[in-house]
Amino acid sequence: MTPADAPAVHLSGLRLDRGGRTILRGIDLTVPRGSITAVLGPSGSGKSTLLAALTGELPPAAGTVEVFGQPVPHGSRALLEMRKGIGVLLQGNGLLTDLTTAENVALPLRTHTKLPEALIRRLVDLKLNAVGLRAAADAYPRELSGGMARRVALARALALDPPLMLYDEPLTGLDPIASGVIMSLIQRLNDTLGLTSIIVSHHVHETLPITDQAVVIANGGLVFSGTPAELDATSDPLVRQFLRGEPDGPIAFDTVKRGEAA
Ligand SMILES: Nc1ncnc2c1ncn2[C@@H]1O[C@H](COP(=O)(O)OP(=O)(O)O)[C@@H](O)[C@H]1O
Ligand SMILES: [Mg+2]
Repeated sequence: MTPADAPAVHLSGLRLDRGGRTILRGIDLTVPRGSITAVLGPSGSGKSTLLAALTGELPPAAGTVEVFGQPVPHGSRALLEMRKGIGVLLQGNGLLTDLTTAENVALPLRTHTKLPEALIRRLVDLKLNAVGLRAAADAYPRELSGGMARRVALARALALDPPLMLYDEPLTGLDPIASGVIMSLIQRLNDTLGLTSIIVSHHVHETLPITDQAVVIANGGLVFSGTPAELDATSDPLVRQFLRGEPDGPIAFDTVKRGEAA
């Protein structure tokens, strides 16, 4: 398979270790271009760890990670180049509080390109427009609601036009209305910009409606992979326990009680 027709992401026999402990093993996953994939699982199951492997932050202990047909590089220069093609929305937004909305969105453009100022402003305007926040360009993060701040972080993640977007718990701290806005925005951006999106979340019911493919990780591995409809219909007790949010059952919650490491 050539890079031109390779899937957006391909994981094969992937094992990820952290702090001398195996967090995930035997992960096989293909994310088709243009799709939205949900990576679901309880807190501490290794969802953020999986994203860290995609961005090259965490090298695999075994197996392979390919993004658009290319193995994720280890060398810092090649890795930096690849990272420009991956937009990441982190859980905490990561906005700089002493910069305006527009300046926050401009940051990746100033860091990674040598574009003239007028063009940077134009691009920032476009990105803010894409998330419906053009009017908030001169506002500071503290002046924004939680949902608006998340949208600014989303605009910033889109700044370099990455073909692949990774969302780590995009709904954390948002009320139901803001959550709905973010999910439909993720879907609209994916479709209109021709992106591929991976959403990591423990909010199953909010996330599933916009996804093409869902995987569930628990107990150190991938325990389900299929369509949202197949997930709804599954009789696997481990997956059902997770979907119902029950503390007792086949998922060993005791081993993951450190909870959500950011
Ligand atoms: N930097 C780290 N060093 C050691 N262990 C870590 C580190 N980050 C996360 N872990 C552990 O890896 C497991 C998975 O964490 P994480 O991927 O953050 O889970 P999730 O995102 O699903 O909540 C947890 O048990 C967590 O304590
Ligand atoms: Mg996490």
